[in-house]
Amino acid sequence: MAISVSLINMKGGVGKTTLAAQIAHAASRRGIRTLAVDLDPQANLSQALLSPERYVKHLRNKKPTIVQLFDQYLPSMEESGGPTPIEPQQLILKNAGFSNQVDLIVSRLELSHTLKNPTGKERRLARILSKIENKYQLILIDCAPTESILTEAAYHASRYALVPVKPEYLATIGLPLLARSIRDFKYENSDRALDICGIVFNHSSSYSEGPEGKKSIKEVTAEAKKNGWPIFETHVRYSRSYAKAAREGTPIGSTSYSRWHVAREFARFGDEFFEAIGLAKEEM
Ligand SMILES: Nc1ncnc2c1ncn2[C@@H]1O[C@H](COP(=O)(O)OP(=O)(O)O)[C@@H](O)[C@H]1O
Ligand SMILES: [Mg+2]
Repeated sequence: MAISVSLINMKGGVGKTTLAAQIAHAASRRGIRTLAVDLDPQANLSQALLSPERYVKHLRNKKPTIVQLFDQYLPSMEESGGPTPIEPQQLILKNAGFSNQVDLIVSRLELSHTLKNPTGKERRLARILSKIENKYQLILIDCAPTESILTEAAYHASRYALVPVKPEYLATIGLPLLARSIRDFKYENSDRALDICGIVFNHSSSYSEGPEGKKSIKEVTAEAKKNGWPIFETHVRYSRSYAKAAREGTPIGSTSYSRWHVAREFARFGDEFFEAIGLAKEEM
């Protein structure tokens, strides 16, 4: 059975998508069979793994996306008469990433229609993933920043939440909201195990490494302690290579002019992360 991890923070721009893509690459390097699920209508993860060109082609060819996961039907083709129910494996794009061990469920903007008519849809993701999880060891779910039916769908489908935090002014504001949201979910769904595997400080802007950043790290650490959430020791520091890696669809360390210390630091975070979720080499 796969271990599923959602990247969650009610704040945008904290590095959810960047880390999801890089963890997917790192997992595949370690030989971990990985499925990435893009649960954000902005579809940044789809583009980061596929490259913008392949992404546009996917949509143009009317290939299935996460929209059909929630609709439960294939996109209607004129020749095929009525709508056809979707099979889970039809949703998966094989070998999406730079390396060939990352499969992907692609997102698109139309996913936001799901938010307008959400009744009864919150368990569909979990149901579909439970039918295919024996093919994978890791399922990574990249979430949108706002709380919605999609967040609930992610909770239902996840064993762990990974919370990237950008250490800056007001970084702590979203954390009590997240704590409450997870507490409420567990109260309503006592059969579900959902734990925060850790907070990771991701410096998605260079100024977060100054005094304001230090103050914020203290505040976040206090908030995490209050909730019993672990914090990863390794920080993912600011590097322009992350944006470049997303543009080039590559692992950090395989970008043009890559800096070895950035790749080494991310690998260190990877060691901590895979250990926290029970996918460290010696445990597999
Ligand atoms: N460690 C980092 N160093 C430099 N830039 C980063 C880093 N992490 C993220 N970014 C950049 O910050 C922006 C927001 O990151 P993203 O992963 O899209 O956040 P989210 O998914 O939480 O909205 C992107 O432009 C991304 O390239
Ligand atoms: Mg994102």
